[in-house]
Amino acid sequence: MPKCTINGKEVEVKAGATIIEAMYQIDEPIAHYCYHPGLSVAGVCRLCMVEIEGNPRVQIACNTAVTEGMKVNNTSPKVRDAVKWGLDFHLINHPLDCPICDQAGECGLQDQYMEFGKYDPEMAERKQKKHKVVDLGPTVVLDSERCILCSRCVRFTDEVTKTYELGLFNRGDRTEIGTVPGKELNNKYSLNTVDICPVGALTSKDFRFRQRVWYLKDAETVCPGCSTGCNTKVYFNKEGMFRVKPVYNEHVNGHWMSDEGRDTYKFVNKEVRLLKAKKGNGGVWTEMAPGAVAKELVPTLKAAAGDSLALVLTAQYTLEEYEAIVSTFVKTFNTKKIYFWINNKETFENFDGLLLRGDKNPNTKGLLLVFEKYGITAAWADLT
Ligand code: SF4
Ligand code: SF4
Ligand code: FES
Repeated sequence: MPKCTINGKEVEVKAGATIIEAMYQIDEPIAHYCYHPGLSVAGVCRLCMVEIEGNPRVQIACNTAVTEGMKVNNTSPKVRDAVKWGLDFHLINHPLDCPICDQAGECGLQDQYMEFGKYDPEMAERKQKKHKVVDLGPTVVLDSERCILCSRCVRFTDEVTKTYELGLFNRGDRTEIGTVPGKELNNKYSLNTVDICPVGALTSKDFRFRQRVWYLKDAETVCPGCSTGCNTKVYFNKEGMFRVKPVYNEHVNGHWMSDEGRDTYKFVNKEVRLLKAKKGNGGVWTEMAPGAVAKELVPTLKAAAGDSLALVLTAQYTLEEYEAIVSTFVKTFNTKKIYFWINNKETFENFDGLLLRGDKNPNTKGLLLVFEKYGITAAWADLT
């Protein structure tokens, strides 16, 4: 395992690791666009410049392997100058769209410009016009003028989904991203391209123009869309939820999540969502908080305890919730007639080989564990 020094910090990396991987390992900041830890190395943006002791020229960190004793820095004036000019070339044809661009506030180009920008552009030529508002498919819109041609989106469809919908077309400053003839960007993971696009070139049809990102808060959670349980972050404010993005977990979802999982936030915003319970008495219905109704129900359930009581559960709840409800039914209401409801028996065992599973519940395993603990063996067929 080679050891190297980066900006004065010693780091030991696995054999074959690149300098940028070593920098990720010690959370050392480095400007970059085309490198993504979930994709192959392209080495095209030329922004991840570093200086290596004994080497007269700056090198790219994403495609240079660490060797024993290597001394690297990316803070010297030489490196900063290289990044500054690299960035200026990225901006030659870039439009001044920030005020109307969905990426503003979380844009790699804005961030790097604040850090390394030249602030006094010397390019007098007219900017190259490219296609705007290109409909790539059901979920994603492309603005070619904002694209910095990092090729992350192309590599994603080639390497992760293997759907090969995207490509780079034409040459030089006329190069543009596009869909290959006869195809549209239409796969079950298409919105990951929006996440990994470092600029506002790819935008989500669902999210674009609905919120400025600085008006959103976020919280980490787990996707309830299927039993894979991708780690996610939800973005929300007092008007509701607006989007879901994946959070890296090497054991569960890596860097990605499905488009289906992203849609789960819409249920939370729905007005039909059950927020209140109704108690009926002689045809008169009173609205109550669900917790209050549950409390009022206890004496009725106790009176009916035994085999006249049954409970149907879905696998949408947490282990703690199952423990509480199953133990109450078994111990307090004296019944083991507790059933597990599945509405898609035929596709329940499906798996698409990447993340999506046919079991559309986040916690079937948890439910079955609690069933096992309390000796629940009631079968759905007994009910029907
Ligand atoms: S991609 Fe970034 S720099 Fe370009 S217009 Fe959008 S916010 Fe501005
Ligand atoms: S659309 Fe975005 S991800 Fe794709 S090449 Fe352009 S900048 Fe990179
Ligand atoms: S990140 Fe290294 S060249 Fe783009």
